[in-house]
Amino acid sequence: MEQFLKEIILEAGQMTLDFRVRLGELNVKHKMDKDLVSEADVAVENFLVGLIQKRYPDHAIFGEESGQHTGGEYRWIIDPIDGTTSFVHGQPYYSISIALEQAGKTILAAVNAPALGELFTARLGYGAYLNGSPIHVSSRTQLSDSVMATGFACIRGHSSFTNLPIFNQLVPILRDVRRYGSAAVDLCYTACGRMEGFWELNLKIYDVAAGALILHEAGGRFSDFSGGTGQLSHEVLGTNGHIHEQVMDVIVRALKDIDHKSQD
Ligand code: IPD
Ligand code: CA
Ligand code: CA
Repeated sequence: MEQFLKEIILEAGQMTLDFRVRLGELNVKHKMDKDLVSEADVAVENFLVGLIQKRYPDHAIFGEESGQHTGGEYRWIIDPIDGTTSFVHGQPYYSISIALEQAGKTILAAVNAPALGELFTARLGYGAYLNGSPIHVSSRTQLSDSVMATGFACIRGHSSFTNLPIFNQLVPILRDVRRYGSAAVDLCYTACGRMEGFWELNLKIYDVAAGALILHEAGGRFSDFSGGTGQLSHEVLGTNGHIHEQVMDVIVRALKDIDHKSQD
């Protein structure tokens, strides 16, 4: 299944590059005011679902755009374009993200950033790779030496509880912050040591399932803001492991400030 996954995600990547040369004609719809879906997202997901159903007709599938397709103990989790906003704006930081679960546990993952020529892969217990070469998280231990990425799904989703208080607490003590536009790429960049961490609120399992396994296999840590690993998406914190507790402390302080202010 690992070779099959690599083949289909590379073909899907080429599809996005073909769409990219005619972005001006791309049909783009709004799921919500800032949440876009393009004809490329739908075409890529339909392509991937068709290939998986043909090869593994008894497997379940959960795709961002087409929802649940029932099946057995194996489930493919697909984000056909993670970073649609980046994609629609002609920026390279978008990816195709695919994870394979067996009985609820992610066993295979691939994140393809085709405009960057980068394919991240992992198999549970067998390490993480970038274009076939092993990757590992960075060894930085200080927040002042660390670069982290984030995103603002919470604001896009008009959530009452947003990322901004955490952002305002973290930015002054980090070396710097990045907002690339693809949660899957953010987790993979942490996995290969280009950044020390990524945090975000209000994500979905298809945003993070593949990136979480790649980060884990690269020696990183993935949890919610309290260090728990039960729920994969609402609160997401992925780091090189060395800064995880420090970041959680900052987040807890930021959330306490919100509680205090809301009671004033
Ligand atoms: C989005 C990207 C973005 C993150 C958003 C996600 P989408 O995925 O991962 O970086 O900040 O919260 O929804 O919607 O383009 O598949
Ligand atoms: Ca996504
Ligand atoms: Ca998407």
